[in-house]
Amino acid sequence: MTFISILYGLLFWAATLILVIGVGRRVHLYWKVPAPLKIVTTPAPVTRSGVVWRMFKEVVFFTSLFRASKYTWVFAILFHMALWLVLLRHTRYFMDMNSFLVFMQPFGRYAGFAMLLGLTGLLGRRMLVDRVRYISAPSDFLMLLLLLSIGVSGMMMSFGVHTDIVQVKAFFHGLMTFDWQPLPGDPLLLLHLLLVAVLMIIFPISKLLHAPGVFFSPTRNQVDNPREKRHVAPWARELEREHKLYADDTPTAPVSR
Ligand code: HEM
Ligand code: HEM
Repeated sequence: MTFISILYGLLFWAATLILVIGVGRRVHLYWKVPAPLKIVTTPAPVTRSGVVWRMFKEVVFFTSLFRASKYTWVFAILFHMALWLVLLRHTRYFMDMNSFLVFMQPFGRYAGFAMLLGLTGLLGRRMLVDRVRYISAPSDFLMLLLLLSIGVSGMMMSFGVHTDIVQVKAFFHGLMTFDWQPLPGDPLLLLHLLLVAVLMIIFPISKLLHAPGVFFSPTRNQVDNPREKRHVAPWARELEREHKLYADDTPTAPVSR
């Protein structure tokens, strides 16, 4: 067992804990934060199932972004869809192969090009469009550069200097079953994994929280029914009951006392 293997083993255990606990705490916070007002962006669905459909379109097709900017949409959708394909192919390092994964391998491999193209477009937009450059913080650039570096180092392994992926799988399987195995010492692999660990560690404190966050956005997840159903935040409802301001099921008018 090499020193590097132990170091990377500990690094990935720590990174996984930080990612899972960090994102879990954030989601808990998003869950708890009150949404006291109806602030749904109209035109909006008037039923729960309509909201689910709207959210689906938002997450899969980036509908709002499409309306806002076609160029950004093209690069963003290219990057995100390719990322999912790449990550799907990557599950082979953590689980046994099945026929679906075998089928997906070439798609995941070539999606790497689309991912890099999308990221380059998004970076170009931040640098070349004055309006966007003005509101960009260093972290906006760093996030894109981090993802680009992960993608480039991965592609260099996939299409250039190969690593021993059977041993990579044994290493990660060993981490999950507490049966440590050595990690290949190729510099490109070590760089790729170091950058991935950085990504996992900063995820819970970065803009990447938009991934879970989109589901909690009140402008997108509320039903547009303020006239049919009086909207009262849970804490306000408590107050109302306490002071008997409104009858429990009265739609709008205060009860005369
Ligand atoms: C539910 C999953 C996700 C959804 C729905 C989503 C959606 C979006 C959308 C709509 C944008 C464009 C925002 C804008 O510029 O107005 C965006 C930007 C971005 N997303 Fe995601 N995303 C998801 C997951 C992820 C993940 C897992 C990553 C990375 C690991 C990621 C990385 C990024 C980055 C870096 C940007 C900023 C691009 C820029 O600088 O302009 N996203 N995402
Ligand atoms: C612990 C997590 C990860 C491990 C063990 C890992 C390992 C690897 C390995 C061994 C390769 C080379 C594949 C080959 O030679 O056939 C690779 C390629 C690649 N990796 Fe990763 N990687 C991880 C996470 C990520 C993440 C989070 C991203 C994206 C943000 C990423 C993006 C890529 C890309 C784009 C390629 C090239 C295309 C491909 O072969 O799929 N990797 N990765």
